[in-house]
Amino acid sequence: MVAASGLAPPRAAAPCPRTRGGLRPGFLRFVPPVAPPPQQLRCCASTVDDSVVCAAASKPRLPRVVGMGSKLVGCGSAIPTLSISNDDLSKIVETSDEWIAARTGIRNRRVLSGDETLRGLSIQAAQRALEMAQVKADDVDLVLLCTSTPDDLFGGAAQVLTEVGCTNAFGFDITAACSGFIVGLITATRFIKGGGVRNVLVVGADALSKFVDWTDRGTCILFGDAAGAVLVQACSADEDGLLGFCIQSDGNGQKHLNAGTLNVESILFNTNGVPGFPPKKATYSCIQMNGKEVFRFAVRFVPQSIEKALEEAGLPASSIDWLLLHQANQRIIDAAASRLDIPSDKVISNLANYGNTSAASIPLALDEAVRSGKVKTGDTIAASGFGAGLTWGSAIVKWG
Ligand code: ACO
Repeated sequence: MVAASGLAPPRAAAPCPRTRGGLRPGFLRFVPPVAPPPQQLRCCASTVDDSVVCAAASKPRLPRVVGMGSKLVGCGSAIPTLSISNDDLSKIVETSDEWIAARTGIRNRRVLSGDETLRGLSIQAAQRALEMAQVKADDVDLVLLCTSTPDDLFGGAAQVLTEVGCTNAFGFDITAACSGFIVGLITATRFIKGGGVRNVLVVGADALSKFVDWTDRGTCILFGDAAGAVLVQACSADEDGLLGFCIQSDGNGQKHLNAGTLNVESILFNTNGVPGFPPKKATYSCIQMNGKEVFRFAVRFVPQSIEKALEEAGLPASSIDWLLLHQANQRIIDAAASRLDIPSDKVISNLANYGNTSAASIPLALDEAVRSGKVKTGDTIAASGFGAGLTWGSAIVKWG
C-alpha cells in the first residue's frame, strides 16, 4: 500500500523497540545490571604509531558496566565564516528574499570557503562541547561523527577524535542525512547502556553546499554548512536523560530525496582484454529533491514519531519544555508544533540564520539555546530529525 504522499505507510503498528514503563509482549526483557569484576580495558588497537595508542590504552580505565542511564552534559557548535543571504542567491538564480523567507523561513546560510573543512568545524564543535561538560578529551570513550558529507569517503570520526585529543576513544561515522544526529544520540545511549562506555561525543556535521546544484532554485536556497556536538555521559539509571525514542526508515521514499552515485569513465589502462572491466569510477550527483513530497512526509510523520517517543517516555506533549526539530523549513516546524499543540514560545528555531544544516541542525540549535540561557538544566526537549533515506526519528531527552 502506498500513502497519499507516495510513500509506503510507516510501520505504524510496529511498536518502538523499547518501553520505559514496562515491556510489551514479544520484547526481550532487559537484564538488570550486574557489575562485572573490575578489569582494565586492554590495548586492542594498533596503528602506524603503536607507541601513541598503547601509551593511551594502558591508562587504567573504569570497569565496563552494563545497564546505565545517560545524560547530556555539554554542547558546542561551529559555523563557517562565509554568510550567504537570500539577496546574494537572488543574484545567482531567479528567486527573492520574500519568496524564500515566506516559503521556508530562511534568510541566511553559512557555507564553507577558503581552507575551511567539515573536519575543522567538527573539531571546534567537539572541543566546545567538552569544555562545557568539563570532560577531558582523553576521558572520551567513543566519538560518533554523524555526517553524510565527510571530507573522506571512508569516514572522518578517527581524524576528529585524534585531533581533539581523545586518545582513549574509538570512533566511527553514521550516515543518516538530516536524521543523523538523532540516530547518533540514540546510538550513544545504547553504547553506554550495553557497551560499557562512559563519555560519548556525538558530532552532527554536514557540508551539503558541496552537493547542491547552485543553479537549481528549488534546492539551493535551503542548505547551509555547520557542525554541532553534544557530550553524552553515563549516569545512574534514575538520572537517565533519554526518556523515550523512536526511529523509522522507509526506502520507498528515497526517490524523493537523494544524491546517488553517478558512473564516469575510469582512467584507461590495459586490461589485456578482460571484458567489462575496469568498473566505472563513481562520483555523486547533486541533491535531487521533490520538495513537495518531502514536505508532506515531514508534516505527517514527524509529529507521529514524536508522539510515539512521548508514549514510550510515558509523558504527555504538554510536558515538553522545548520542541527542537531538524531545521528544514519553518512551515514544517510550525505544522508539527500545531499538531502537538505546543505553543510557539516553546519551539526552538534558528533556521533563519543557517538554513538546513542537515545532521548539524539539532545540536547547533540546541547549543545556541543552551548558551543563551533558554534551555535550562532539567528541561525536557522533544527532538526530531527527518530526511533522506527516508529516515526519521525522535528522542525525548532531559538537558543536563
Ligand atoms: N524562488 C522563487 N520561486 C520558486 C523557487 C525559488 N527559490 N523555488 C521554486 N519556485 C517556484 C516554482 O517554480 C513554482 O512555480 P510555478 O507554480 O510557476 O510552477 C512555485 O515556486 C512553487 O514551487 P513549489 O516547489 O511547489 O514550492 P513549495 O511551496 O513546495 O516550496 C520548498 C518548495 C521550500 C522546497 C518546500 O517544498 C520544502 O521545504 N520542502 C521540504 C524540503 C525539506 O524539508 N527537506 C528536508 C530534508 S533535506 C535532507 O535530508 C538532505
